[in-house]
Amino acid sequence: MFEKLLGRATKNALNLLHNDYFEKLRKSEYRRLDVSSEVYLDYTGGNLYPDSLIDTHHDWLKKNTFGNPHSINPTSERSSKFIETTRQTVLEFFNATDYHCIFTQNASGALKIVGESYPFSENSQLLMTADNHNSVNGIREYCISKGGKFDYVPMNQVDLSIDHNRLLNDLSSTSITGNKLFAYPAQSNVSGVKHNLNWIQTAHDHGWDVLLDAAAFVPTSVLDLQKYKPDFVSVSFYKIFGYPTGLGCLLVHNSKFEKLQKQWFAGGTVKLVTVKTNDHNLNNNYERFEDGTVNYLNIPAIQFGLDFIRGIGIKRISERVYSMRQALVRELNQFKHSDGTKMIQILGPDTIDSSGSSIVMLFNNPGAKLIPFQTIELLAAQQNISLRAGCFCNPGIDETIHAIEKDVLSEQVNLVAQNNGIGLHAERGSVRVSVGLATNNADLIRFLAFVKSLVDQTV
Ligand SMILES: Cc1ncc(COP(=O)(O)O)c(C=O)c1O
Repeated sequence: MFEKLLGRATKNALNLLHNDYFEKLRKSEYRRLDVSSEVYLDYTGGNLYPDSLIDTHHDWLKKNTFGNPHSINPTSERSSKFIETTRQTVLEFFNATDYHCIFTQNASGALKIVGESYPFSENSQLLMTADNHNSVNGIREYCISKGGKFDYVPMNQVDLSIDHNRLLNDLSSTSITGNKLFAYPAQSNVSGVKHNLNWIQTAHDHGWDVLLDAAAFVPTSVLDLQKYKPDFVSVSFYKIFGYPTGLGCLLVHNSKFEKLQKQWFAGGTVKLVTVKTNDHNLNNNYERFEDGTVNYLNIPAIQFGLDFIRGIGIKRISERVYSMRQALVRELNQFKHSDGTKMIQILGPDTIDSSGSSIVMLFNNPGAKLIPFQTIELLAAQQNISLRAGCFCNPGIDETIHAIEKDVLSEQVNLVAQNNGIGLHAERGSVRVSVGLATNNADLIRFLAFVKSLVDQTV
């Protein structure tokens, strides 16, 4: 509806993004987007499933009979066989030959295993980057409960990168003699900033174990675990190929498997449990951490999903996403109100090389007055555009973007406690759009036309 508002130059620039390969893919796998005139720009939130993945999985379910694994009856053996082939496919996908693959519910489930099982003690330290998802931040509670210390490496407000000197200093100068865990995201779930994977080796050189949260990184970038060798890696599969939800994995380097101390046992995790002598022997492999019956009907769909992605090639996806993000940033930077004020403030790095598929931004009314993120999300929704707004479970980045001081944060915490959860600071939050393998130039034109419709409006 707003497309007419966009200038020819912008439309031409975006039409250059037309790509026969991805346009064909859009038509064959994601036709529903066009049928319902939907613009989906929340790929970092969750990827979209291709039609063929659903068909392949459903055909497979219809053709076979599956039973609860871990038994030698035929239906059980069939399930076990598919689970194990899928596990191998995951390891191959990440070139992770010397890792265990533990299936979990999602990336948060993977991170929770590390939090629960890492041998924190009074003599331990957890170091995190301020840019982290809450599912990593939450590990500090396990560290605190064992008497350990935790700390954050701050971010630079200008480009949302991590303070490199401070990081090197924190990694090299700690006096801690116990277990040390450094946790950071390979890619920010908010700004899309790709953090330096060489920090893994630096941290190792100073005696740290490394937890790499790869949830936002792996959908559009190659993670080669022969090249970079973090000790623990968290992944959610729906972020890579959209289906099924409810599955992720924790990859644990073989050398650190025994370091994780399982806090309890459950069905499927033990070789032997006695009731009369109160003993138990844990399994010696990934099964130790897969509590109860695994999701045996859905796990094999991961294999079909990874086959689909391999068919396209992560490199091709990465290049596609790169060019779309580049075009979007360029166009968004041009929007100005008649009073000369910039409408969009893009937060994060100037160099697109160091950022992935998402763009985080603030919208301003004329006079440079911030538009609440909720307003933008609502107005976009009215145009059938799905973008995401808020704090994205990443408080560190939001506190940095809005330069919120500690005393203000303490006030907010009290306010939220009193109001039973209500009370976000008026000037918090931002708007995120993220592109993916099903995005096309028509989506970007629709989104930019929507943005253009807000020029000179006070909303
Ligand atoms: C970087 C990062 N880590 C962790 C998570 C948590 O993933 P999940 O909600 O699938 O557990 C997300 C989800 O957005 C993420 O982007």
